[in-house]
Amino acid sequence: MSTLWVGTSWKMTKTLAEARTWAEGLRDHLAQTASTAVQPFVIPSFTATTAVAGVLGEDSPALLGVQNAHWEEAGAWTGEVSVPQAKDAGAQIVEIGHSERREHFGETVATTRLKVAAALRHGLTPLLCIGESAEVKEAGGSSEFILEQARGALAGLTDEELSRVVIAYEPIWAIGENGRPATVAELIEPFAALGAEYSGRITGLLYGGSVNLDNAAALLEIEHVTGLFVGRTAWQLEGYLELLQIAEAHAEAEQIGG
Ligand code: PGA
Repeated sequence: MSTLWVGTSWKMTKTLAEARTWAEGLRDHLAQTASTAVQPFVIPSFTATTAVAGVLGEDSPALLGVQNAHWEEAGAWTGEVSVPQAKDAGAQIVEIGHSERREHFGETVATTRLKVAAALRHGLTPLLCIGESAEVKEAGGSSEFILEQARGALAGLTDEELSRVVIAYEPIWAIGENGRPATVAELIEPFAALGAEYSGRITGLLYGGSVNLDNAAALLEIEHVTGLFVGRTAWQLEGYLELLQIAEAHAEAEQIGG
């Protein structure tokens, strides 16, 4: 079975001191219990990237990411950060196309495609987020909508390039304070659609949106799900470590069960 990717984006939270404390806790935890079945990752704000990289250290089993990056290498793009700059700061993952960026910052399928290509060009893992609104879901178009987002962002990639991509399916209606947790039943069909197209061809197919300690185990049971992308529950280190343990238990059970 594939490695389970379990990670968190901190969105626009945490001071440097808070970031360091969280990262120290993760580093100490992983020093005691490094599981090969689970790939941890953390995506802080840009301001905390180098601090977290420094705490985790170069040989950390946890991967480090950024929440966005521009597609150009450098230049007159005020307020933006390029993939080479993110890499220089220690990032190995670039999160691309989160619904908050699509809604508030003009991210489109076209820009996600440019950013996926830029990440791959520099050897970073693109973590492509896709997800439909409540309106699209109510109209019955979820699977078609998310497949279009994914196909648009990943168009033209070679099999080798595609194999380095991680996709996170995060329905907008399930994300954040205003979201409601998705039921397992609601996720079967979208993951079947994504799995039919991408299972075995990409690095990971994650679920995100109101993941918590009560639903994580059941979400990992869904066919084609190979990880979790988590906001609020993982912002406290204890919550994140518990999620890692849930994923490890799931991986162990799968190994025993075959
Ligand atoms: P949440 O955020 O876990 O706080 O709902 C998920 C996300 O936006 O990735």
